[in-house]
Amino acid sequence: MQTTILGRTGLTVSRMGVGAGGPSQIGRKTGLSENESADLLRHAFDQGVNFVDTAEGYGTEPIVGQALQGRDRSSIIVSTKKSTRRQEVTAQTLQASLDQSLQNLGTDYIDLYNLHGVVPQDYPRLVTDIYPILQKAQDQGKIRFVGLSEMFNEDLGHTMLQMALTDDLWDVLMVGFNLLNQTAREKVFAQAMEQNVGIQIMFAVRKALSHPDNLRAFVADLVQKGQIAPADIDDFPAFLLAQTDSLPDAAYRFCRDEPGVHIVLSGTGNAEHLDANLASFAQLSLSQETRDRLKHIFRRVDSTTGQSI
Ligand SMILES: NC(=O)c1ccc[n+]([C@@H]2O[C@H](COP(=O)([O-])OP(=O)(O)OC[C@H]3O[C@@H](n4cnc5c(N)ncnc54)[C@H](OP(=O)(O)O)[C@@H]3O)[C@@H](O)[C@H]2O)c1
Repeated sequence: MQTTILGRTGLTVSRMGVGAGGPSQIGRKTGLSENESADLLRHAFDQGVNFVDTAEGYGTEPIVGQALQGRDRSSIIVSTKKSTRRQEVTAQTLQASLDQSLQNLGTDYIDLYNLHGVVPQDYPRLVTDIYPILQKAQDQGKIRFVGLSEMFNEDLGHTMLQMALTDDLWDVLMVGFNLLNQTAREKVFAQAMEQNVGIQIMFAVRKALSHPDNLRAFVADLVQKGQIAPADIDDFPAFLLAQTDSLPDAAYRFCRDEPGVHIVLSGTGNAEHLDANLASFAQLSLSQETRDRLKHIFRRVDSTTGQSI
């Protein structure tokens, strides 16, 4: 497994991170038992993944805690998140949530503590009211680094992350980016690289890139919306499938090799998919010609996350 330094945190992280949320929630949404979900995480760790992302809101923190048991705590970078949506987060509720997350995870420190799904209208208040509480938790040794994740489906223009980069308070950002929607390249990554902010990608595969039939439906919709030129997609996705093991393989590698990206989160509740995804992260880069074509085809797309048409 390739590793990199997660920006200003200085942490050495695997390029693939396991996500315990998303549509599959490591199998919680697809009928796995808690033990089977923990086994998926353990398998990923045994194969060299040292980064796991969860959240209070996913209900998967205890499973991550289970998978960490018996392992050197310092060998895994644990990221969790506190939702700021549909509830008023206060200093008191944040402190209580953080203590509960520590208990759920069975650890006395969290490597990355993120505010979850932050929307632009909430961001200023979170900086004034909540950021100081995070700093206090850092001083207490409960958390090491602080970050934000965006609400990609409501904030397709990455407005909140652009506000955050202006403030330059945050060590890590979780960003929606994929082969279809590449808008974060200019709107987030360029500035994040200048500030050495750690970047994690979510939505690398999602629905659109999990199967060629889904992709065809998304592409047809984008053609209809005038965001893709029909002349650009003559042999798409055939040319890509001819060079890769599968569409998810292409999708993860496309994100992994994007300049400025440190970690690509992969969410699955399927053991075969997990092995396939681990194999993708061991593959070489897509050729520059292929990357350039993918950039060209989707250059105007800004209306989808890849989850729903
Ligand atoms: N706002 C936020 O903070 C936020 C939002 C979303 C996600 N996240 C984080 O990011 C992580 C990754 O999220 P994501 O959902 O965007 O992940 P993703 O890896 O892009 O997509 C996951 C979807 O792809 C499918 N999939 C994965 N590998 C596959 C394969 N080899 N073949 C076919 N289908 C495959 C999964 O289904 P199967 O289970 O069938 O494999 C699942 O439906 C989450 O777990 C979570 O930690 C954060």
